[in-house]
Amino acid sequence: MECEGFGLGIVVYDVRTEYRRRPMGITQTNPRFSWKIESDMCRTYQASYRIQVALDQEFTKIVWDSGMTNSDKSVHVPYNGENLKPDTRYFVRVKVVDNYGRESDWSEFEYFHVGPLSDEDWSGAEFITADFESPDQKVSPILRKDFEVHGAVKRAMLYITSLGLYEAYLNGERVSDWVLTPGWTSYHHRLQFQAFDVTGLVTDHNCLCVMLGDGWYRGPLTWKRFKNLYGDRRAVLALLSIEHDDGSREVVVSDETWRATRGPVLSSGLYDGEVYDATISLTSLLAPHMGDHTQWSTTTIVPGISKSILVGQENEPCRVVEYVHPIRFIKTPSGDEVIDFGQNMVVWVEFRIEAPAGTKIELEHAEVLDKNGEFYTGNLRTAQQRDIYICSGHGEETYSPHFTFHGFRYVRVKGWPGDLDITKFVGCVVHTDLERTGDFRCSDEDVNRLQHNIVWGQKGNFVDVPTDCPQRDERLGWTGDAQVFASTAAFNMNVAPFFQKWLRDLKVDQYVDGGVPPVIPDVFFGDPERQHQSSSAWADAAVICPWTMYLYYGDLRFLEEQYDSMKRLVEYMRSQGSSEYLFDTGFHFGDWLGLDSPPGSYKGATPDEYVATAFYAFSSNLTSRTATALGRDDEAREYYELYQRVSQAFRDRYVTQEGRLAVQTQTAHVLALHFDLLLPHQRQTCANELVRLIRENGYKLTTGFVGTPYLCHVLSNYGFHDVACRLFFSREFPSWLYEVAMGATTIWEHWDSLKPDGTFWSDDMNSFNHYAYGSIGDWMYRVLGGINPVEEKPGFRKVLLRPRLTDRLGFVHVSLMTQYGELAVEWRRHSDRTLGVSLSIPVNVDAELDLKHFDGYQLGRTEYEKLLVVDPHVKVSESGHKVCLGSGKYHLVLQPI
Ligand code: BGC
Repeated sequence: MECEGFGLGIVVYDVRTEYRRRPMGITQTNPRFSWKIESDMCRTYQASYRIQVALDQEFTKIVWDSGMTNSDKSVHVPYNGENLKPDTRYFVRVKVVDNYGRESDWSEFEYFHVGPLSDEDWSGAEFITADFESPDQKVSPILRKDFEVHGAVKRAMLYITSLGLYEAYLNGERVSDWVLTPGWTSYHHRLQFQAFDVTGLVTDHNCLCVMLGDGWYRGPLTWKRFKNLYGDRRAVLALLSIEHDDGSREVVVSDETWRATRGPVLSSGLYDGEVYDATISLTSLLAPHMGDHTQWSTTTIVPGISKSILVGQENEPCRVVEYVHPIRFIKTPSGDEVIDFGQNMVVWVEFRIEAPAGTKIELEHAEVLDKNGEFYTGNLRTAQQRDIYICSGHGEETYSPHFTFHGFRYVRVKGWPGDLDITKFVGCVVHTDLERTGDFRCSDEDVNRLQHNIVWGQKGNFVDVPTDCPQRDERLGWTGDAQVFASTAAFNMNVAPFFQKWLRDLKVDQYVDGGVPPVIPDVFFGDPERQHQSSSAWADAAVICPWTMYLYYGDLRFLEEQYDSMKRLVEYMRSQGSSEYLFDTGFHFGDWLGLDSPPGSYKGATPDEYVATAFYAFSSNLTSRTATALGRDDEAREYYELYQRVSQAFRDRYVTQEGRLAVQTQTAHVLALHFDLLLPHQRQTCANELVRLIRENGYKLTTGFVGTPYLCHVLSNYGFHDVACRLFFSREFPSWLYEVAMGATTIWEHWDSLKPDGTFWSDDMNSFNHYAYGSIGDWMYRVLGGINPVEEKPGFRKVLLRPRLTDRLGFVHVSLMTQYGELAVEWRRHSDRTLGVSLSIPVNVDAELDLKHFDGYQLGRTEYEKLLVVDPHVKVSESGHKVCLGSGKYHLVLQPI
């Protein structure tokens, strides 16, 4: 055992602003800073910090100096200096003193860049559209401005957004690698703009071009294919701000002096794909020195778009994050030429081709082959997922689409001249570029594959908003799916800004009566059938998601911002139902896709009103805890009382005289226990009953979207960890590893999306990339791996390390890059029958290691003494089960009893 240091003394690193490194164009006026600390001594805490913010990287023009401030806070420390100015870059650095009195050097500097903050800051820029634009105009317009710049340029910043999607080019070069900009928000209320540093692209004679696509703004959405949901004309708003060496500034803004023409993208749609005619040369359209202006038409201002809806980019951008190469070429029995990329993913294909002008190449995208090995698109429903490229005929040309994305593993190619050469194709994986934070590995390769599938499900469905699926005619921000997956997502990747953005949209899209739409951004507002559809478990995302983010990131702002929205939902539930404390009315999705559903129904057998009342209680409880965290004690009491009364009403209705549940489904038992709705003496009976139901069903689960996320948690918590493991490690249908055994590379929507005989569950609703059941990841990290956030010190300021062993595994290794640094736990059975436990705990973190479930092993006296040598402050509880540790790396060897 040892406590390894880094040999560095104490070092501050990874200084971030609002979770991000060097964010551009922010509109927060009191951004918060976070940093990490490395130390070569165990049990290091920050005693004080000092932050400086300046206008220059030499820190001579300081705008805020916090002074050395006594505090252990190293995350979410708010800026508190003079007012931040728009269109300005600020540099930040941090130093700290630790509990041993050691002072660090200044960190390396980082910066953030503030964007336009008010209407005036846009310097008269307007939303402009091509004068030939119309609701039916499919071709992507290109809008263009030519201008000259004189004098040396110190910095040039482009602030830009659009109605529809945009790609911006300065002098023929893309201004950034971000795609699908400006992202998807509730456009009526909030529209993100982006800020790009284009200093290196500005010359004397310039042209700024913007190509526009339909995107979420006006392209068809949902299976009902609503069009022009937010507006019917694509437009751009741009401000190029140029700062000269002599301090002077000039601006170029979008206005009616811009010109417009039709580009090579003949049509584009998120569901249907893109048609691109390369005989129309994009390069010439984007080139400076346009020459003949007569080819270009005029532009007009789109009236009535208030700049008050503009917000700086809030989450990480979407971009091509990685490349996947084909693994094989397939000629299907019916003669289709198909490329297999080996991974179901969200991506578009880039290919190289040399062919005569006018040659038409068609790519279609599908997730699976059918049981005969044929290319299968039945489950895409109305989504075409088809890209068509018309060759220019000028030597080797390269194409990838601009304004679409596809969910697929297989590509059918039509029109390829000669033999199809798969080396000419590459899959460009596109999603929100989230930082990978968590890792789960163990001795079972199928489980590792499951973890891979969960992560790929997250990649494919975190495309600017959390979606249900990326392939068929939905790809919508279903609240229920996001809610069940949020904690797993927060283990795998840093999702704080991603959820922050989405929750702000949830808040503005919430119904007037407090109900919450089933998808965010809401796209059903014009649909008489679904104008108001606040379903339990889906709507509860309004409460569960901010609470989960608070637990994982310790960021009180989630709760401050969303508290009203949480209360409004709870009050909405209170206003429904046959009594104040029951929620037994209205439409609900129920235990969606539960295997105990009656024939012909998607809803599991647990009654809607049971699920709804259970979630009503749970959300009241979380709202009460939120009020406590916000220091609103009266409201905390009020909502706690509500939770108790709802739980009482729940028991009155659903617990029989014998103390059993009136609803005999697995999900019913799981919810009653996980949401703490029973009296103490009823709980174990309920858990026993759950196990009876599972046993009577041949140790197979029946749970759907609502029960599945908590099923194994409940079993492990109530003394049935073996049953949880039996379900988890099963390779038979229905189970997570059944999908793995069937060759899945992502998580499926249904337990039997693909049946053992190779047939499909159905054409109608059968996604092979649906993350809801990936919510088991939370149990893998927390129970098998043992990393648990602690409510009193959220964000892993304190962590409970409580791994649960299972005979089925020889080792488990989990790690999580927290905002304090990397936290890691590994347990490993050795051949000498000892158990190795390795821990890595970052600076400023308190860890409690709970060995209660290490049946058959104990922390021996000598091992404990060795621990004390490393860290004399280590505390072990009387039972010997709990060890309290500070930062450092620890390797323990536990002896068999
Ligand atoms: C989606 C789900 C969603 C459900 C709600 C489906 O079409 O794909 O994931 O939660 O509808 O009913």
